[in-house]
Amino acid sequence: MSEESPNQPECPKGAPDSDENDGPLDRRGFLKLAAGVVGAGYAAAIGYPVYRYIASPVEQAAMASAVTEVTLDNALSLPLNSSMIFKFGTAPAILIHHANDTWTALSAVCTHLGCTVNYQPENNVIFCPCHSGVYNAETGANISGPPPKPLKQYQVQISDGKVVISRA
Ligand code: FES
Repeated sequence: MSEESPNQPECPKGAPDSDENDGPLDRRGFLKLAAGVVGAGYAAAIGYPVYRYIASPVEQAAMASAVTEVTLDNALSLPLNSSMIFKFGTAPAILIHHANDTWTALSAVCTHLGCTVNYQPENNVIFCPCHSGVYNAETGANISGPPPKPLKQYQVQISDGKVVISRA
């Protein structure tokens, strides 16, 4: 014998609970929606930094390769036998104004492990302070130490009182 009152219709098997029939967004639906929103928030909070970590080197490489020319407005005032570091795309590069008034532009990224090199005017060489790598200041050729390859060379042109550096 059933304990339900005779005035209430019997709920068929598999019929939804009364909680699910309260309206378009009942308590259970709201909790599911809230859990979904919170889950999406956590996924974004974790996923975005991971995406940035993975995508950054790819984006930087694309940006670096997209740059083909850099104009240095004030580089003509660089004294003889001195140098300056500048950005070519996203990577450091070095411009050298030699004692004989010629110019050289090279990548400043050491071909050994990527340290930034510097110009040593007293020896007229490019030096890497990380492991004492030495390069020729005119050509970028690796002379001594661990660097396995020359520094990448850029073309230098003087135009309208500016130094224009481009990919060779
Ligand atoms: S990183 Fe330049 S010599 Fe090692």
